[in-house]
Amino acid sequence: MESAEIARRFLRFFEERGHKIVPSASLIAEDPTLLLVPAGMVPFKPYFLGQRKPPAARLASVQKCVRTPDIDEVGKTTRHATFFQMLGNFSFGDYFKEGAIPFAWELLTRSESDGGFGFPEDRLWVTVYQDDDEAAGIWHKQVGVPLERIQRRGLADNYWHMGVPGPGGPCSEIYYDRGPEYGREGGPVADEDRYLEVWNLVFMQYQLSAVRSKTDFDTSGELPAKNIDTGMGLERMAALLQGVDNIYEIDTTYKILDRAAELTRTRYGRDPRADVSLRVIADHVRTGTMLVADGVLPSNEGRGYVLRRILRRSIRNLRLLGTGDERYMHELTAVAIDAMGDTYPELRSDAPQIHAVIDAEEASFLGTLRTGTAIFDVAVEETKRRGGTKLPGEQAFQLHDTYGFPIDLTLEMAAEQGLQVDEEGFRRLMKEQRERAKADAAAKKTGNADISVFGQLLEQAGKVDFLGYDTTSAESAVIGILVDGRPVPAAGAGTQVEVVLGRTPFYAEGGGQLADQGVLRASGALVEVHDVQSPLGGLIVHRGKVASGELKVGDEVQAEVDVERRKAISRSHSATHMVHRGFKNFLGETAAQAGSENSPGRFRFDFTAAGAVPPSVLRDVEDEVNAVLIDDLQVNAFYTSQAEARAMGALAMFGEKYGDEVRVVEIGDYSRELCGGTHVHSSGQLGLVKILGEQSVGAGVRRVEALVGLDAFRFLARESVLVAQLTDQLKARREELPERIEGIVTRLRTAEKELERLRSAQVLAVAGSLVEQARDVHGVSLVTHRAPDGTAADDLRKLALDVRGRFPSDRPAVVVVAGAPSDRPVVVAAVNEAGRERGLKAGQLVGVAAKALGGGGGGKDDVAQGGGSRVEAIDEALRRVAEAVAGQLG
Ligand code: ALA
Repeated sequence: MESAEIARRFLRFFEERGHKIVPSASLIAEDPTLLLVPAGMVPFKPYFLGQRKPPAARLASVQKCVRTPDIDEVGKTTRHATFFQMLGNFSFGDYFKEGAIPFAWELLTRSESDGGFGFPEDRLWVTVYQDDDEAAGIWHKQVGVPLERIQRRGLADNYWHMGVPGPGGPCSEIYYDRGPEYGREGGPVADEDRYLEVWNLVFMQYQLSAVRSKTDFDTSGELPAKNIDTGMGLERMAALLQGVDNIYEIDTTYKILDRAAELTRTRYGRDPRADVSLRVIADHVRTGTMLVADGVLPSNEGRGYVLRRILRRSIRNLRLLGTGDERYMHELTAVAIDAMGDTYPELRSDAPQIHAVIDAEEASFLGTLRTGTAIFDVAVEETKRRGGTKLPGEQAFQLHDTYGFPIDLTLEMAAEQGLQVDEEGFRRLMKEQRERAKADAAAKKTGNADISVFGQLLEQAGKVDFLGYDTTSAESAVIGILVDGRPVPAAGAGTQVEVVLGRTPFYAEGGGQLADQGVLRASGALVEVHDVQSPLGGLIVHRGKVASGELKVGDEVQAEVDVERRKAISRSHSATHMVHRGFKNFLGETAAQAGSENSPGRFRFDFTAAGAVPPSVLRDVEDEVNAVLIDDLQVNAFYTSQAEARAMGALAMFGEKYGDEVRVVEIGDYSRELCGGTHVHSSGQLGLVKILGEQSVGAGVRRVEALVGLDAFRFLARESVLVAQLTDQLKARREELPERIEGIVTRLRTAEKELERLRSAQVLAVAGSLVEQARDVHGVSLVTHRAPDGTAADDLRKLALDVRGRFPSDRPAVVVVAGAPSDRPVVVAAVNEAGRERGLKAGQLVGVAAKALGGGGGGKDDVAQGGGSRVEAIDEALRRVAEAVAGQLG
């Protein structure tokens, strides 16, 4: 049975039993406590907690999930994957154990021809939480599972929570016995490879306030209702129903594995090590593709790092199969898109962007591998020279941090060199860095507040109404005040505060648009607002300082946004939309927005592109945008369904394809985008858009910066003044400037070369007479010469060599030339072969001179150079050299 059919059957079964089918949410969790969605229930967390009302009391879904804690197990076991799809049915205060258990049993055991999965009853085992007699009773009495196939287990196995504060509860798991060839008798407690877990039924009934580990957590009370959350791994089911040994060989993943084997000319099933690599590649390429499709870009932190690690592990495993510098990720990504495209059609439409991101990461990692390998080699050499056997932790950390070397790569390469790695030191440094990063991120996004404080505020305030699309000033009431992250009833003058209002015209930073600033006026207080953030969906927090008086919870306030700033930001935001459209028009649909920042008068726009954008395209985009804005197109914003927005061709930011109702902003017929930001009323209000330039900001992503309105005008006006100054100074017309300047530069270069040539000639002109003036010192010709001040060091060297070359080869000769190219003296000594045979060494002679000059130097026997700081000692230095030569020969 194909994976897609398994999903269809599951959903149909539950739809027939009154469940509403919900599409998968993005892998990018909305939940601030999670990086990525690890379970089917994540999008429903607020329903379990009673914070929001579910669209129906019974839901079912197939949710994309990513889990990486067991990443090292991937490929080595039969059942660990970083990406998987979780099939789940959910009940919010509707049915409980008595409903969920029979549903699961029925679907698993019903025959395939009858819409079920056709598992023989006698091969299914179940586990329940140790004291859950109720669940055990339902399994035995209602369903008929014999007691010997019902096992009881503790917290570690039969209690489920998210790993972070939230809902949780005891669970009951269903296992399939694969048969004696897979392991020991004795049920799941004896062997989890033979007895494969296929379905987990969680009886969600508690609220967890703190989670320290799987078995160590605090329960703060019961949830408002008794709920059901279930999870069945689609990939594991597929392995069983397709009769393959492991989840890497199922229909979807195997396509990637097979292609990887073909490309690397590896036979799957021959060499266990190569098999692991092939499975890792198959799993990781699929995960990487799904993450990129949901808008994750490779980076060094958070989700971006998860993605980077996964992609780099794929590439690394390709290299273990001997691919060298060959690039195969494009091919493999194409296979992954194809394998998953029926279920997730957006993979096909977004394929160019997905490729752009993954190709670029591959290119950059291959470059990294080259540089990093050189650094690694040096570290190895150093360690060996010291007689060490362990590569220091700092080296491993630097390789990881600066060159993106996964630690397993360093370990492996070190082992090839017969070395170990100080892993403990490495992990300590990693931990320190992570803690620093966490502290930074937390301080930036949420002030000092614990996220749960905001959760409580949200419960009190309900969803805060944002009025800022229509107005920049409104009356409101103070719902909560935080000082240093803690709720307070009032705050006095001079205090830094975070204020939550019942409704507000202030725009919280988001969607690339910077926060509004302004003031809150209460009858007894004035608060200056510097920043506005939304730490939780629906909550808007004003940050600032009480400038005077005392602000109290419950105060009525007049909230006033700084209108000029808001207008300038809105202009930037509308301009960003237009520039986005412009790039798509000139570069094609692959130029998709990857990020932006709209600040007053200026904006930054990041988009996916394989390489640098030519200047001509920048000019074309700028030209088109300005032409369109003069048309003074009407700007409209409206809400519609996701599907409707797509049908209208509204641009979504890459990865932004979730949520039922979306806001669309259109600028006439020119641009249409999903957007929650604020905008101008008509395009003419932008005045002018000037693109400043383009650069790379990471793998496959380019950034343009641009100015809008008066800022754009002032920039051009300044440029114009600059040009006027040039025309004046060069006495040329504007259009003649480039040619004129080129002419000047060329003439200058020629003149400099000529000067150089003349100087060298002049220096060398004395060479002949120096030979004639050579002194005889015990049969050796000695020339000591002081060149005119300002003679370049290069010329001193040239002169010394030239003079040395003029002596017949059987005549021992020593030439020492000194001078002062700048305020520091330089000395060059040259000894010919016959001279060296007499025991004279240039390096040694330079040492003598340099010492007199108050410096150092040395070098080889035939030529050497040195210097010092005392120009006044040059003659003295030359005398010393002559004495040294005489002394040595005499
Ligand atoms: N939430 C449960 C799990 O992830 C079903 O296993």
